[in-house]
Amino acid sequence: MTAGGSEAGKFAGKDLELDKPNPARMYDYVLGGELNYAIDRQFVSEILATMPRARDTALLNRYWLRRAVRYGTQQGIRQFLDLGSGMPTVGQVHEIAQGVDPAARVVYVDNERVAVAHSEIVLDGNDRAEMIGADAERVDEVLGHPTTRRLLDFGQPVMVLMSALVHCFSPVDRNPATMISRYRNVLASGSYLALSSFTTEQQGDDIVRAAELSKDTSEPIHPRSRDEIRGLMAGFELVDPGIVFTPEWHPESPEDVGEEPELSGVLAAVGYKP
Ligand SMILES: C[S@@+](CC[C@H](N)C(=O)[O-])C[C@H]1O[C@@H](n2cnc3c(N)ncnc32)[C@H](O)[C@@H]1O
Repeated sequence: MTAGGSEAGKFAGKDLELDKPNPARMYDYVLGGELNYAIDRQFVSEILATMPRARDTALLNRYWLRRAVRYGTQQGIRQFLDLGSGMPTVGQVHEIAQGVDPAARVVYVDNERVAVAHSEIVLDGNDRAEMIGADAERVDEVLGHPTTRRLLDFGQPVMVLMSALVHCFSPVDRNPATMISRYRNVLASGSYLALSSFTTEQQGDDIVRAAELSKDTSEPIHPRSRDEIRGLMAGFELVDPGIVFTPEWHPESPEDVGEEPELSGVLAAVGYKP
């Protein structure tokens, strides 16, 4: 796609913010998707020039998300609430869940118009997977939304996904712990929370540079320590192996973990609500 080109025309009526790099589209480009524009690709190239690992970080997080969803389906979960779902990019939650059971239901939530606009287009025709444009922090709005009420039954276990979401929350003025506890309180026993976040743990200067560069986007990142992430999982029993780097969580083969899993820069965990 090119900004203002024919693909942009395809989304007439949708506000796609083509005048500045957009984190959701940049993420899509890094993952090999096609829902991005020249202005996004240019900014990604700048990031990759200083942080060549950024692409791997995104891919490894996405592979983890896929394994976490598959794990949920193996535990019998058929309902997913994906908060901060981003662009409808490669290997989406509903593709994985509905690939296991076509009856699986997914509600995607994102507060960014661009991600919502693209998701609505991609999900058109799938009546068991829908997108809501909402702030995940407005828990009552998300849970009370007609789409959530139609697709998800909170009397039954649900897997809540917060993949690469909480590092969008500054610890200074927004504590995701309150938001998480409010979702936890409405979940039935047997539900799960799958969460990943950029971390300061075992990281060099890269993560500091990434956080600095991200200040030029509409979505600065705030990496967290393992203890901070453990605090966010309060009230959930951590599924083995606990809070680990994305490649270490239920790898499909030892080679997938590699020699230095910490280079992923992202810690991930899945918790069970007893
Ligand atoms: C790095 S992307 C992660 C996308 C996807 N979850 C993944 O792991 O591939 C973070 C997403 O969270 C969304 N986001 C950030 N804060 C949010 C909030 N308060 N409510 C809803 N979405 C939010 C952003 O718009 C962005 O699409």
